[in-house]
Amino acid sequence: MTRTVSARRTRLTAALAATLSAGLILLFGLTLRAQQAVPANGANAAAQQLLVKENVAPHAAPEQPLPFSHKTHVSRGVQCRVCHTNPEPGNQMTFPAVATCMGCHKTTAADRPAIQKLAGFAQSGEAIPWVRVYEVTKGVTWTHRKHLQAGLQCGNCHGPVGETERMSMATAVTTMGNCIACHQSRNAPMTCHTCHAWPAEE
Ligand code: HEC
Ligand code: HEC
Ligand code: HEC
Ligand code: HEC
Ligand code: HEC
Repeated sequence: MTRTVSARRTRLTAALAATLSAGLILLFGLTLRAQQAVPANGANAAAQQLLVKENVAPHAAPEQPLPFSHKTHVSRGVQCRVCHTNPEPGNQMTFPAVATCMGCHKTTAADRPAIQKLAGFAQSGEAIPWVRVYEVTKGVTWTHRKHLQAGLQCGNCHGPVGETERMSMATAVTTMGNCIACHQSRNAPMTCHTCHAWPAEE
């Protein structure tokens, strides 16, 4: 009888200890995550280290529907992931919903012409027709998700985006040579089929 009680107590204590340590690990994990959130915004050197070649020839920034500046926003501490999410199946980082912009711009700089144009998009429900900058050739297999899971940061492929006023294709990340050079250095898969669906059968 007493043995059962004490065995039960031991089990209870063990369960309590497990719960507590799980809580501590969770807390610790959250603290770590909070610390890692800083490099994710491209604010530290490792996150900004470019692992692909810069485009030597200048690539002019395309004319965009609104004069959006990454520098203005990132320098105020807005994280990349606030605007660029990675929905299923994880290939794209996507462009922000107008509602994300309006979270601030309902009040911030609301009197400026560019923000009034922004509010116009919000009112009509029309997506902002941003001009694409980085785009891999159609048919090439691409996924952001696998790269982020492998620990790569935005700045490793896109450069110091937070310092730019107008987005242009600053790096050669969309070329096959740059994909392969990094895959080679990181022991990532290298067969033609990793990135190309053809030839369909062999
Ligand atoms: C976290 C708040 C926040 C979010 C979210 C945000 N902005 Fe801003 N935005 C600002 C601030 C702050 C400024 C600087 C205003 C100033 O100059 O006083 C600014 C400035 C701008 C300007 C320049 C306005 C001008 O003419 O001076 C544009 C254009 C702009 N934002 C567009 C956008 C768009 C498009 C989005 C969504 C993709 C967006 N913003 C999301 C806070 C935000
Ligand atoms: C406030 C919202 C906002 C934040 C924060 C933000 N972006 Fe953007 N991003 C945009 C918008 C809007 C565009 C489209 C307009 C443009 O190209 O400038 C864009 C475009 C881009 C593009 C080019 C996409 C293409 O057309 O190929 C890249 C790359 C990018 N962002 C990376 C980043 C990185 C990296 C960060 C963090 C350092 C970041 N962004 C933070 C809103 C944001
Ligand atoms: C391993 C390199 C690599 C990393 C890391 C990377 N990108 Fe990209 N990014 C690309 C390539 C390649 C494209 C063109 C993809 C396409 O055509 O679909 C791209 C396209 C984009 C686009 C255009 C829309 C889209 O999803 O196609 C945005 C926005 C973007 N990246 C933002 C980011 C942000 C934010 C991060 C960090 C969270 C990031 N990228 C990390 C290589 C990278
Ligand atoms: C900066 C380094 C880097 C660059 C640039 C890069 N990759 Fe990767 N890639 C990786 C790493 C690391 C992995 C993950 C390997 C793993 O999970 O074992 C990966 C994984 C992949 C995968 C998933 C492979 C699989 O079978 O799971 C594909 C597809 C891919 N890359 C395509 C591309 C393409 C296309 C480009 C160029 C447009 C590119 N990558 C550029 C480092 C890079
Ligand atoms: C890590 C990703 C990756 C691997 C592995 C890879 N490629 Fe590519 N390949 C690309 C990308 C990205 C492009 C588009 C380049 C551009 O638009 O500049 C491309 C383009 C091509 C093209 C041009 C025609 C087209 O479909 O756009 C050929 C041909 C090609 N690759 C052959 C190969 C062969 C053969 C292999 C295997 C020996 C291979 N590739 C392995 C990423 C890869």
